[in-house]
Amino acid sequence: MITIKSKEQIEKMGAAGRILADCHKEIAKMIRPGITSWEIDQFVEGFLAKHEATPEQKGYRGYEYATCASVNDVICHGFPKKEALNDGDIVTIDMVVRKDGWLADSAWSYAVGNISPVAEKLLKVTKEALYKGIEKAVPGNRIGDVSHAIQVYAESQGFSVVRDFIGHGIGSEMHEEPQVPHYGPAGKGPRIKEGMVFTIEPMLNAGKFHAKVDLDGWTARTVDGSLSAQYEHTIAITSQGPIILTEQ
Ligand code: MF3
Ligand code: CO
Repeated sequence: MITIKSKEQIEKMGAAGRILADCHKEIAKMIRPGITSWEIDQFVEGFLAKHEATPEQKGYRGYEYATCASVNDVICHGFPKKEALNDGDIVTIDMVVRKDGWLADSAWSYAVGNISPVAEKLLKVTKEALYKGIEKAVPGNRIGDVSHAIQVYAESQGFSVVRDFIGHGIGSEMHEEPQVPHYGPAGKGPRIKEGMVFTIEPMLNAGKFHAKVDLDGWTARTVDGSLSAQYEHTIAITSQGPIILTEQ
């Protein structure tokens, strides 16, 4: 069942979203060669505590960290590590914030120092793909219209769209209905209605879309070793169209 959120509930999710967006803005300033994703994770714990918010991912199905930190060929769900990020790396930091019982979810990919032209283009196109999807998230459209817009744009730029991980409804639980794939036909899937809140979080690969999960049970990588990037927002649907609750 897709739950419809009230104006008050959406405002609470917006409060979580603003904290999350501000946290990403701080992370953007910290990212440089030599920093570790462990330090970023520690920073996030402190930042959220200061804002009387909590990291929802910590303890979720046994996950041990506030953030996911996914470097280069890691698609998503990488563990924060006490290992320096290097010049030329790309890293996606993903987190879910709980504030006053309500959640927001946003991931952002960052360039570490100077990155290759391909990595640069992958970041740009993945972010643009997210916004192409958001544009289609209007009442009356279907989820497939969002999915399709993302896939068409990503593939037109020579990149592939990960199939194994998708966007999702969100509210007082991290994963609610509907499911929001980032690929597939237009005109299919649930009708988008006012009061729905869901994430759009495309993961694009520079090579093929296939993913595999490490023996740790979490870390998802590209099978071909190619780079992967991700941008994610939590959006609320209003009669006027989508509002981005995690806009930086
Ligand atoms: N933020 C994520 C999502 O989009 C990842 C959740 S996995 C976790 O659903 F266990 F780390 F929380
Ligand atoms: Co998500």
